[in-house]
Amino acid sequence: MTDSVSTTANQAKYRADYTPPAFLIPTTNLEVKLDPEQTQVKASLVVEKNGVHNNSLELDAEVEKVVQIEIDGEGLSPDEFVYENGKLTINRAFEKAQVVIVSEINPKANTALEGLYLSAGAYCTQCEAEGFRRISPFLDRPDVLSIYTVTIIADEEQYPHILANGNLIAKQKDHKTGLTSVTWNDPFPKPSYLFAMVAGNFDLLKDTYTTISGREVSLEIYVDKGNLHLSDHAMESLKKSMQWDEAKYGLEYDLDTYMIVAVDFFNMGAMENKGLNIFNSKYVLADEKTATDTDYHGVESVIAHEYFHNWTGNRVTCRDWFQLSLKEGLTVFRDQQFSADMGNPVLERISHARVMRTMQFAEDAGPMSHPIRPDKVIEMNNFYTVTVYDKGAEVIRMMHSLLGESGFRKGMDLYFKRHDGQAVTCDDFVSAMADANNKDLSKFSRWYSQSGTPELTIQETKTGSVYTVEFSQRIYGRDDAYKALTIPVKYEVLNKHTGQQVERGVFVLEEHKGKLEIKTDQDVVTVLFEDFSSPVKVKRSLPLSDIKLIINNASDAFCRWDMLQTLWQMVAKEGKADGEAGRTLVNCLIDIVLKQELDPAIRAELLTIPSFQSLAEAFDEINVDAILKTRTLIPSLVTEQTQQAIRNELAEMGPVNNDYNKENVAQRSLKASLLNLLSFSDGEEVKSILRSVYDNAPNMTERVSALNASLNLGDALVQDLLNQMHKSFSQQPLVFDKICQIAASYNGDEVYQMMEYWASQEEFDPSNPNRIRSLYGAFVMRNPAQFHALSGKGYLFLERLLTDVDAKNPQLAARLIDPLLSYQRYDEQRVALMKGVLLRLSSTELSKDLYEKVHSALA
Ligand code: ARG
Ligand code: ZN
Repeated sequence: MTDSVSTTANQAKYRADYTPPAFLIPTTNLEVKLDPEQTQVKASLVVEKNGVHNNSLELDAEVEKVVQIEIDGEGLSPDEFVYENGKLTINRAFEKAQVVIVSEINPKANTALEGLYLSAGAYCTQCEAEGFRRISPFLDRPDVLSIYTVTIIADEEQYPHILANGNLIAKQKDHKTGLTSVTWNDPFPKPSYLFAMVAGNFDLLKDTYTTISGREVSLEIYVDKGNLHLSDHAMESLKKSMQWDEAKYGLEYDLDTYMIVAVDFFNMGAMENKGLNIFNSKYVLADEKTATDTDYHGVESVIAHEYFHNWTGNRVTCRDWFQLSLKEGLTVFRDQQFSADMGNPVLERISHARVMRTMQFAEDAGPMSHPIRPDKVIEMNNFYTVTVYDKGAEVIRMMHSLLGESGFRKGMDLYFKRHDGQAVTCDDFVSAMADANNKDLSKFSRWYSQSGTPELTIQETKTGSVYTVEFSQRIYGRDDAYKALTIPVKYEVLNKHTGQQVERGVFVLEEHKGKLEIKTDQDVVTVLFEDFSSPVKVKRSLPLSDIKLIINNASDAFCRWDMLQTLWQMVAKEGKADGEAGRTLVNCLIDIVLKQELDPAIRAELLTIPSFQSLAEAFDEINVDAILKTRTLIPSLVTEQTQQAIRNELAEMGPVNNDYNKENVAQRSLKASLLNLLSFSDGEEVKSILRSVYDNAPNMTERVSALNASLNLGDALVQDLLNQMHKSFSQQPLVFDKICQIAASYNGDEVYQMMEYWASQEEFDPSNPNRIRSLYGAFVMRNPAQFHALSGKGYLFLERLLTDVDAKNPQLAARLIDPLLSYQRYDEQRVALMKGVLLRLSSTELSKDLYEKVHSALA
């Protein structure tokens, strides 16, 4: 009857404006007749007033068409409702009523991949954050919890698997129409963002898990036909996650079935829909032939993350979207703990610090900077950020440090006792932690409201037998309003000459300034922020001799790695490799190359060349050329003196067993670091070594290591190996993504032709976000030399891409634009070029997603 003109204005919403919903929807019955272009959704809702008021019922709605509305069995006339600007307003008063709304949607035309869409022929849904309103008009907000019963009607021959949340309660075939209707019921009240349904033709891997209280849960992983052999690692990861959550937090799974569906078209990693997770196939499918160790790790941690959401997210959910970190920060923290228990805790911490420093600090210094609990949002999809997720996890981790393992657990227990079945706020979480431990966390909770990265200035002095470390904190550019944050500093004091430990402890800075005093007669230096104990920047000038001492002697391997990163940054800032810092760095690296007795996993990390972004972090105005130079000069100098040793070691290493376990992973990553270093020594011999590593590689990890190293040796070798890979793995999209990533990282003007070539291959479907991210995402993120070329070519390339992608998939476009948002941190010429792109974009018609980012960047 009514067509919606969808022009939802680019209007901001504010956290401070929260009001409870005017109506509640205790039960929701959906009947969905699937059709590629005209799916009909009939929603029968029990709607009741929440409190005393005379407001009309105003539902969020972004469906193609509202066909019919009935209230308590009576049809509404056209003048009794209005459907415009994303709202369906019903002008008939009631206290409690049965509201039936029939609407129509077009899954095939849904290229935004939000709501109900088709992924390579299978129907699936993505409702977080505000996608349910694209399926049916609803109170599409997380504090409206409803019990869902869902009937899906489809042709069972074409779609043998018809799924929704909860338990299957009925299935019948209509012999007149030939269609099958399948009914699911989810007994747990849930917000609409956790709704999911799927219909497709899959291979199914089944297993069972017996919970700690002895209930048997059926575990089901649905993958594309022909991929069954790639789903074992996902299943193992799921069982480990279930067991870990019972052991660590006493949390048991609550339904009889846990389903995971892997789809190829997906905007993010995965989604924790109650009892029916939907995953990007990249985080399900893996075997050693096609997946790297990094991929195995990704599968394990994302499976865990989504599983852990069942309690932190689903049983206790968010009151409003400003509270997103309530579930995401906490669940990331939990998946981090899990990964540390499954693998190597130091490597995990190194990778968290990398994410924080290269991505989160940049976000917090840029125009989209927001507190982990944002105050203002235009497009919610723009706030699934490293700030909300990863800084959010760091904040939870600091609480864990302050309360201790058992105090933290007490807080978690109280949180679930108080809030199971509710939609709550970050403050509720902090209160549970505080109350369970009788501790005042009111100052600590400033971490939730202040954005920006605290900068810690450190000054050390020694008077008599008192050694003092003075700390002072601030946030760059916000000195007036900045309230002191609580900052736990894990430290170790070392004897400056022998490297022996003098003392180890935790200092908690709570004011703008603070002092750690240590009584000692020895000459000492402190190792600060062990285990990355706070997400802060450290301003400290240490003499090179102390830096070296820490690299060689700190008890915490994280800090040994960390000091080496500091040294790299110093060299980049000096802009030359033959200064004092450069020479020290080269010598340290040579030592590490020669010290075969070091732990292989740590040694591999120490020998990894820092990313462009992590060196850029050290600059107020990013010096692109100095960073690029440092990243090649230093390894060249190291290899000049060690190439024989590296070759010998590589030759002696021999084959590593394919199994995914931490010892094997460490060996392979060491091999990768050594190969990469070796690629900085020129000569045909190196090429033939890489070629033979590639040819003889027993798994994908080693093939990719050889390929990455080959990037340093001219385009002929790379292209040759990529073609070889393409031939051996044709029609395997996840392998094709690796090819794209490597090709797009090539530093040379040829990269444009290479991208064009791979984009013209049959496997490259531009409507699939994984393909776009692998090819073009890699270009903007992993190819700094070409992306930031002074010709401006890289920026123009991104501009065209954004215009293209935004029209179809705004979420994807809004991710790709991120590197442009920091434009103010570059030199004048680049600022002008990047700003030009933003200005031109701002004068075109943009999605809400891009609009918010572009306009905040130009504000
Ligand atoms: N809740 C999901 C997860 O972290 C991610 C959903 C992201 N949704 C979005 N529209 N960006 O597990
Ligand atoms: Zn999550």
